[in-house]
Amino acid sequence: MIELEPQHFQCPGFYIRVASRPFELHGAQALRHKVFVEEQKIFPQHDRDEVDHVATHLVALSTYAHEADDVVGTVRIHEPQPGLWWGSRLAVDRDFRQVGRLGAELIRLAVCSANTRGCDTFLAHVQKQNVPLFRRLHWSVVGEVVLHGVVHAQMRADLAFYPPCADPELGWFLKPGKRR
Ligand SMILES: CC(C)(COP(=O)(O)OP(=O)(O)OC[C@H]1O[C@@H](n2cnc3c(N)ncnc32)[C@H](O)[C@@H]1OP(=O)(O)O)[C@@H](O)C(=O)NCCC(=O)NCCS
Repeated sequence: MIELEPQHFQCPGFYIRVASRPFELHGAQALRHKVFVEEQKIFPQHDRDEVDHVATHLVALSTYAHEADDVVGTVRIHEPQPGLWWGSRLAVDRDFRQVGRLGAELIRLAVCSANTRGCDTFLAHVQKQNVPLFRRLHWSVVGEVVLHGVVHAQMRADLAFYPPCADPELGWFLKPGKRR
């Protein structure tokens, strides 16, 4: 007998794109709260800050009957000075981790979008347990810092692996299990 289990096995694919509609922006906020406040307990009440006002928010959206359904991943990017970009608040819903490469694809859209917009350096503060993931994606450690009581590696993306993408707003459709 076949047992149908988690939702992700039934999801035909994911949109990876810039958040534009209200449900996408609210969903990203809600997911961050679930991950950084409730799960990791890095922030006691909320994880919002001033960067949210200037950042571009990216999302991974599950689909139902080919329509975008729910926000299951997010990351944000911003450019505090010309050419220097930061990525932050990368989060994938627990039920969708290590199933569709959503984290890796959000990182790809984040850096490729910045590259489209004239990036010469792309940095992120990465929690220690995620350093191997970023190394595999062509990032290198350039420093270490304690943020919100948690040790983070400061890492830099190798832009040669992240060519500018044609249309970050449109992004792309990702089929589960598809390897790049
Ligand atoms: C970190 C996180 C975003 C990764 O998302 P994800 O969707 O599970 O990652 P992916 O499936 O895209 O991972 C890509 C590959 O790296 C592997 N991988 C994922 N996380 C990894 C880790 N921490 N260490 C080593 N490898 C990892 C995956 O198994 C996958 O391998 P494969 O290509 O052989 O299948 C997710 O675990 C998460 O939201 N964690 C909680 C919040 C958090 O830590 N945010 C990051 C702050 S720096």
